[in-house]
Amino acid sequence: MSPDKTRKPDLLLWEETIFKDRDLFELDHLPEHFLHRESQMNSLKFCIRPALQGGRPVNALCLGPPGTGKTTAIFKLFEEIESHSSRIVPVHINCQMDSTRYSVFYQIYKKLFQHAPPSSGISFKRLFEKVAQESADREMVIVVALDDINYLFHEKEVDHVLYSLLRAHETCPGARMAVIGIMSELSLNYVLDPRVVSVFQPEEISFPPYSRAEIKDILGRRVQMGFYPGVMAEEVLQEVVDCTERYGDLRVGIDLLKRSGLSAEKRASRSISSADVAGSCDRSRLIHLTYALKSLKEDERLVLRLAAEKKSWRAGELFARFHEQCGAGYTRFHEILNKLDSIRLINADFSGEGERGRSRVISVRYDPEELISRLGEDA
Ligand SMILES: Nc1ncnc2c1ncn2[C@@H]1O[C@H](COP(=O)(O)OP(=O)(O)OP(=O)(O)O)[C@@H](O)[C@H]1O
Ligand SMILES: [Mg+2]
Repeated sequence: MSPDKTRKPDLLLWEETIFKDRDLFELDHLPEHFLHRESQMNSLKFCIRPALQGGRPVNALCLGPPGTGKTTAIFKLFEEIESHSSRIVPVHINCQMDSTRYSVFYQIYKKLFQHAPPSSGISFKRLFEKVAQESADREMVIVVALDDINYLFHEKEVDHVLYSLLRAHETCPGARMAVIGIMSELSLNYVLDPRVVSVFQPEEISFPPYSRAEIKDILGRRVQMGFYPGVMAEEVLQEVVDCTERYGDLRVGIDLLKRSGLSAEKRASRSISSADVAGSCDRSRLIHLTYALKSLKEDERLVLRLAAEKKSWRAGELFARFHEQCGAGYTRFHEILNKLDSIRLINADFSGEGERGRSRVISVRYDPEELISRLGEDA
């Protein structure tokens, strides 16, 4: 009997796949269609525009929770700049990797000269002069995106970086540089040096979490382009959207599409079922946890760790424990609760009860043991 006759039509042959384009489900994939970020893209372009006419760009600061498209917006902007202008040199710096003034300028040098600085070692002063002089000589504007700029907050490194970039023209007339800061924070808590503030007055561009309809649109587009037709039914997509919305991070949805696709293939199925999604959601949401934890400061981690010690806390009790451990006041505690709530690490709902009016009840949104162990891992 030939294998074809025994094959059920809904089963995949071993060499077949439901993925039309696997790359679309990788987190570093730059999407062709960047939906629902038109206004942010317009603001960014508006900041850069003066440079096209030989002027100085406006500095910008992109703010928003994890997985809201900030890094993607910068990559899209830079792609466009590079295809339209040779007078602007965009440089993307991942501050988690390059977190000193020296390494930031090292990367700029590399981009500008298309090769690394001499390996014999070069002082910061020399590195800086070369970069600034090149910008002046070739009449180029260097636009530096400092992604996850909070990684420069240690030892005032951010002041050194911004100062060097934005006052370069004072020591090297004609040099032009602009900065786009990117942060998954709601407000810039760091107090910049006054000499930096006078030159860095950024246009703030906000990246709010995507609404449910927007999440559905974005993930629906990936499904359409990344899977063969009929692989994911509308109701199943809804379930992926549900899981994504719960964590507010688009990475959860993209990862979930991939994992549930792999789960369907494992069963040799031509379509993804609700069970494939339900079985993968738990793993995909940890992606959000990993990214969300990286944006936390020490006192924020403390509140989260304490919150995970009990199933639920009254805000007042949790504050007492927090205050006992680090001495910080209620205003800061309140700020932290709001942040942890907004990036969906905790629930902080009003109970409607309480002796002195309404009080908030705090609980963590992840398995407490998982949370505590992850907090320990990257401490
Ligand atoms: N509007 C969108 N359309 C299509 N894909 C998107 C959109 N926004 C985000 N994504 C996808 O979601 C993922 C996360 O986006 P991105 O890395 O830009 O988030 P981010 O805001 O920089 O997050 P973080 O603060 O954690 O660095 C990426 O894989 C990106 O392709
Ligand atoms: Mg990012």
